[in-house]
Amino acid sequence: MIDLIDVSKIYPVKGSDDVVALDHVNLHVEAGSIHGIVGQSGAGKSTLIRCLTALEKPTSGSIIVDDIDLSQLRGRELRQARRKIGMVFQAANLFDAKTAGENIAFPLKVAAKKEFTREQRKGRVRELLALVGLEHRGGAYPSELSGGQRQRVGIARALSDTPRVLLCDEPTSALDPESTRAILSLLRQVRDETGVTIVIITHEMSVVREICDSVTLLKDGGIVQSGTIEEVLADPGSPLAKELVPAPSVDELDVTDFNRELTAREIAAQSSSAEAKTSAKASAQPWESGNILLDVIFTSHPGVPTGSNMLNLAAKLGADVTAGTFESMGSVQVGRLALAIPAAERSSIIEQIRAQGAHVEVRSL
Ligand SMILES: Nc1ncnc2c1ncn2[C@@H]1O[C@H](COP(=O)(O)OP(=O)(O)OP(=O)(O)O)[C@@H](O)[C@H]1O
Ligand SMILES: [Mg+2]
Repeated sequence: MIDLIDVSKIYPVKGSDDVVALDHVNLHVEAGSIHGIVGQSGAGKSTLIRCLTALEKPTSGSIIVDDIDLSQLRGRELRQARRKIGMVFQAANLFDAKTAGENIAFPLKVAAKKEFTREQRKGRVRELLALVGLEHRGGAYPSELSGGQRQRVGIARALSDTPRVLLCDEPTSALDPESTRAILSLLRQVRDETGVTIVIITHEMSVVREICDSVTLLKDGGIVQSGTIEEVLADPGSPLAKELVPAPSVDELDVTDFNRELTAREIAAQSSSAEAKTSAKASAQPWESGNILLDVIFTSHPGVPTGSNMLNLAAKLGADVTAGTFESMGSVQVGRLALAIPAAERSSIIEQIRAQGAHVEVRSL
C-alpha cells in the first residue's frame, strides 16, 4: 500500500551544514495494517509523514501510495491523490466557529463539492458521527466537546472523503490515559470496518503495543529497525523488543538480600570442608564478589513451554528471580526475568541461559 523507496530529505540551512532529515529510507507498509513510527525527537518522524502527505517533496527517492508515485505528480493529479490520504493531528485542529458536523463535512465541501449533493453530504456526516460514537453531538461546537471527543471529530473529518490511508501524528499525546485507550480502539475499529491503512507516529510505546501490527524505529533520519510486532519480538535483544517489553523494575535491596542468603549458604557449604573454603577463596576475584543482576529476555509461541523451562533453569542454576513479566503481543509471548546471581558464576550461568535461546544482559544497578 505504501512504499518508500530510497527516500532522502535534506533541508538546506543558511550559514551551516544541511540537515539530513531522512537518509535513504526504504519502507513498506501493508494494505490495511496499522504501522507505528517511533523515534526520539528530531529523528525525522514528522518529515516522513509530511512527505507521505505530499505536503513536502523528498529530495530524492519515490513515495508510492496505492500504486501512485506521489513524487511524480503535480497540480490536479496531486490534489486528487492527496484526497486518498487523511490526516489526524495531535490537537484535532478543528474550526472553532463550525459545529462538529460542519467540521466533518468541510473536506467534502472543499474537495468534492460537485460529487455529492447536500443530502449525500449530510448522510455521510451522520454515518461518520455514528462511526466515531458521536451520533448526537453533530451540532456541538468544539468548545462544547472534551479533548477526546474533539479528537473523534478530527478522525471523522479525516475519514470523510474515504481515504485509503490515514496518517496520524501523535494523535493521543494530548489526551488522558482513558481517552487515549478509547481513541486507539476507535482507530482499530475504523481500520477493521473500512480497511484503511494507518500510519501512526508516536513517542509512546504503549500505543505500539496496543494497536500496531508493525513498527519502524527511526534515528537520525535512518531506519534502525522495522518489521511486524512478531518479527521485532523474535529478536529479543533488539532495540524495539526491549522498548516494547521493558525490563521489570528491581529493588536493589532484593539483590543484596539474595547476597545475604547466598553468603549463609556459602558459609554452610564452605564450613563443611576446609578444602572447599580454600578453593572458593582462590577462584573468587575481589571484583567478582557479591551479586549481579541479569536481564533475560525470551520469546515463545503458544504451546511451547519456554517460560517454565526458563524458570526451571533459573532454579537449577541457583539464580534468584527478583522480578519478571510475561506478556502476549500478537501471536508471540514475551518473557523478561531479572535474575540475581553470584558474580563469580556469571560466565557459566550466562552461557547456559543463552543456550536455551534467550537474550541475556548484565544490568548495572
Ligand atoms: N523546515 C525545516 N528546515 C530545516 N530543518 C528542518 C526542517 N524541518 C525539520 N528539520 C530538521 O529535520 C530533523 C527531523 O525533524 P522532524 O520534525 O522530522 O523530527 P521528529 O522526529 O518529528 O521530532 P519530534 O519528535 O520532536 O516531533 C530535525 O533535525 C529538524 O531540526
Ligand atoms: Mg515531529
